[in-house]
Amino acid sequence: MSRIAILGAGRVASSLATALVEQGHQVTIGVRDQTRTRDWLVEPMVCTSIGEAVVGADVVFNATPGETSLERLSAVREELAGKILVDVSNAVERGLNGLPGTLTYPGSSLGEMLQAALPDTKVVKTLNTMLFTVMANPGSLSTPATVFVSGDHADAKATVTGLLQDLGWTPGSILDLGDIRTARGPEAMILAVPDLIAARGLAPFAITVAS
Ligand SMILES: NC(=O)c1ccc[n+]([C@@H]2O[C@H](COP(=O)([O-])OP(=O)(O)OC[C@H]3O[C@@H](n4cnc5c(N)ncnc54)[C@H](OP(=O)(O)O)[C@@H]3O)[C@@H](O)[C@H]2O)c1
Repeated sequence: MSRIAILGAGRVASSLATALVEQGHQVTIGVRDQTRTRDWLVEPMVCTSIGEAVVGADVVFNATPGETSLERLSAVREELAGKILVDVSNAVERGLNGLPGTLTYPGSSLGEMLQAALPDTKVVKTLNTMLFTVMANPGSLSTPATVFVSGDHADAKATVTGLLQDLGWTPGSILDLGDIRTARGPEAMILAVPDLIAARGLAPFAITVAS
C-alpha cells in the first residue's frame, strides 16, 4: 500500500484515484478549492490543499495543467523533497480553437524542467500519451497499448512500474525509455492529439509500439 497524493481533481485525477483506491492504496486529492463538491470523491479518499496532500504522501501524481505545473510544483519544493513525483501532464499552449497548438517547452520537456527545479525529488514521466479513460483501463482498447516511463531514478521507476501494473498495465506494455530526457518524445506526441480527434472523434486512444 502506497500513500499517494493526486494533485488536481479533473478527469485524469478521478480516473487514477478511483482505480488506485480500488487497489488498496491510500489516496489524498490535492486541490485549490476544497469546498467544491465532486461526486466521485468518496471515502476513503481525502481532499486537502495541494501542500497538505504532498506532505502526507510518498508518491505524488501531477494531474493539473502542465503549462503551469512548474511554478505550482516549485512552490512545494521542500514538501516534495525525498518523494516520487509522477508527472502525467502535458504542457501545451492552446490555439484559438482551444486545442493544443505548440509545446510549452520546445527543445526540452516539462519532465526535465521539473527534475531540474526539484533536485531532491525523483520525477517520473508516464501515462501522458493516451486519453484519460485508458490510463486505468488499458484493456478497454482493442489493440494492446504501450505506456512509456522516463526518469533518472531506477528505484522510483520501479515503484511507478508497480503502480502501473496496479492500474492494469502488463509488464510487456510498460516501456522504460531511459532517463528524464526521454520524456521529450512522449510529451511531443500531444501535438498529434487534435488531429487524431479531428480524424476519428473523441474515441479512446493510446500510442502503441508495434513489434
Ligand atoms: N484528459 C486527458 O485525456 C489527458 C490525457 C493525458 C494527459 N492529460 C494531462 O493531465 C492533466 C489533467 O488533465 P485533465 O483532463 O484531468 O484536466 P481537467 O479535467 O481540466 O482537470 C484539471 C485539474 O487541474 C486543476 N487545476 C487547474 N488549474 C490549476 C491551478 N492553477 N492550480 C491548481 N489546480 C489547478 C483543476 O482544478 P479545479 O478542479 O479547481 O478546476 C482540475 O481539478 C493535464 O496536464 C493534461 O494535459 C490529460
